[in-house]
Amino acid sequence: MATLVGAVTTSHVPAIGRAIAKNLQADPYWKPFFDGWPPVHRWLEQVKPDVAVVFYNDHGLNFFLDKMPTFAVGAAPEYRNADEGWGIPQVPAFRGEQDLSWHLIESLVGAEFDVTSCQEMVVDHAFTLPMALMYPSQDWPVKVVPVCINTVQFPLPSAKRCYALGEAVGQAVRAWRSDARVVVLGTGGLSHQLDGERAGFINKDFDLAFMESLLHDPRWATQFDSRQLVEKAGTQGIELLMWLAARATLGEKVRSVHRNYHLPISNTASGLMVMAPAD
Ligand code: DHB
Ligand code: FE
Repeated sequence: MATLVGAVTTSHVPAIGRAIAKNLQADPYWKPFFDGWPPVHRWLEQVKPDVAVVFYNDHGLNFFLDKMPTFAVGAAPEYRNADEGWGIPQVPAFRGEQDLSWHLIESLVGAEFDVTSCQEMVVDHAFTLPMALMYPSQDWPVKVVPVCINTVQFPLPSAKRCYALGEAVGQAVRAWRSDARVVVLGTGGLSHQLDGERAGFINKDFDLAFMESLLHDPRWATQFDSRQLVEKAGTQGIELLMWLAARATLGEKVRSVHRNYHLPISNTASGLMVMAPAD
């Protein structure tokens, strides 16, 4: 059976793509953010994943307001990104792990999650930037399975439902007949609001409480409904649902491997955590 080695949760601000393209990692603005990553690289060298299951939210590149699945799972042989209008350079294509894709789709539908299966899918900055931060050489040593959660158009799935989705994905990964080593990513957040009256809103106290909860009380955020989460974390801060799903794959007890928190990056409080199943 496959081994779930752990989860990496991180923000996915588009400006990171520009900073990578312009080699600004040592620039005073960017250094506290990029300094968070070498411990993740060392951990990846130790645990050597073969596959990454990536919880992320599409921002209008693959799905638009006309068709918006609540949960979608990629089952494509490869995934490319495309111009989103940010001017971020395109990255090499990602190889899909189709056997795991179909196993996840069958397991999730069997567990009564009505997922949309996508045999063609383009992936946006929420997928490509965390991958580029994990693997700066962009040679992608892992095959991938994208799992997309709608945080763009209301109604959004609840935190409780996203946690349950993560639990089901974790069980399915562990039941996958493969000797692969699987890492889970959750990308988005933390607190930010890009538009409206509260544009620029950041809530450090909430972010730190949320990060702490993932280690010791992982269902804490499921007490809040979507509107309460928007109030606490900002309209786009609700992307923390990806963190919750990723955390839930690991089961009840986890070990903290690494964390970093720095604000602001663009309009966002950037967070980073690596968690592994408790031994
Ligand atoms: C920003 C953050 C996001 O999560 C996103 O998808 C787009 C922009 C930002 O802070 O600039
Ligand atoms: Fe986003």
